[in-house]
Amino acid sequence: MQQKIGFRGLGAYVPERVMTNEDWTRYVDTSDEWIVERTGIHQRRFAGEKETTVDLGMAAARLAMEEAAVQPGELREIIVATDTPEVYNPDTAAYIQHQIGAGEVPAYDLAGSGCAGFLQAVDLACSRVAVRGGPILVLGVEAISKIMSWQDRNTCVLFGDGAGAMVIDQGQDLVEVLAVTTGTDGSKADILGKEIGGTRVPFSKEVAEDNVHNRVVMNGREVFKEAVSRMSAAAHEVLNQVGWSTDDIDLFVPHQANIRILHSVAKSLGFPLEKVYINVQDYGNTGSASVPLALWEARNKGMVPAGSKVLLTAFGAGFHWAAVLLQF
Ligand code: ACO
Repeated sequence: MQQKIGFRGLGAYVPERVMTNEDWTRYVDTSDEWIVERTGIHQRRFAGEKETTVDLGMAAARLAMEEAAVQPGELREIIVATDTPEVYNPDTAAYIQHQIGAGEVPAYDLAGSGCAGFLQAVDLACSRVAVRGGPILVLGVEAISKIMSWQDRNTCVLFGDGAGAMVIDQGQDLVEVLAVTTGTDGSKADILGKEIGGTRVPFSKEVAEDNVHNRVVMNGREVFKEAVSRMSAAAHEVLNQVGWSTDDIDLFVPHQANIRILHSVAKSLGFPLEKVYINVQDYGNTGSASVPLALWEARNKGMVPAGSKVLLTAFGAGFHWAAVLLQF
């Protein structure tokens, strides 16, 4: 029988600390009404004082590994998608490899892919499993509260911290990845991102004095438009790969950027809202953690019984985008 490639373990974690919209009014000139109306976000979770990217990632990884019944020594590779690494260098995956007790296998980050990073890592892991065998641990993890500006109301209210993990493998008894697409449009690289601290604008005393060191550059309207069109196109692409239409899909799990983006993507694809999983109200935009966290919640609520066909899409800085089709 032909081996399938997919995931045999899924986990997610959000830190305990709840940050409400009301809480944000103590830091910036904003209101619960503005945030809810423009984004649909009511609250988000922020890592505790001593909690870091590795702590969040490890919590999600342990759940995924336990569910997959995979021992750390069996892992063939570890890929961590994050824009908020444990340290600038080396990569977060090195710390995860050590803490989880994996062997001396390749462990590396997909950094800078923003909110599309996790699905890009899933794509990479599936091809690596096909060539070298599995299992591979894939993480999407962000602790953005630690490194973003708490003074910029245009961006700070949008984000939250969290982690998601998958164990990708081959075999029969797994959730099959039926189709994948990923893409990049680097001509839009300056529309969304964090430029300070790189070689173009190195971190300096002046930067620190201007208090712009943590600034996220974002053209919100352009990001909005591109997110809708790229996520919709990527979704069509994977559906076309298997000859399905949106009617064949039982649950649509898009990147949880904000409620208006989610509604627009669903509308453009023709999904009724009852087929769209939405948790942005509780967690905000958790970047690369958003898709696995949403899928994990939906699965735990019994929304994807055996036989379900699930469509995932994501979009982020780069611009990068991706879509994945799953058969439960
Ligand atoms: N509270 C109150 N007022 C605010 C806030 C805030 N938190 N943030 C911005 N404003 C003000 C601005 O200063 C501006 O005021 P002005 O008109 O006096 O200059 C006004 O609100 C901005 O209004 P708009 O630009 O019309 O706001 P818009 O309806 O475009 O909503 C938003 C802004 C929510 C950022 C929207 O553009 C958006 O969702 N874009 C997508 C961004 C996104 O999702 N980024 C996440 C990363 S990428 C991804 O995950 C897909």
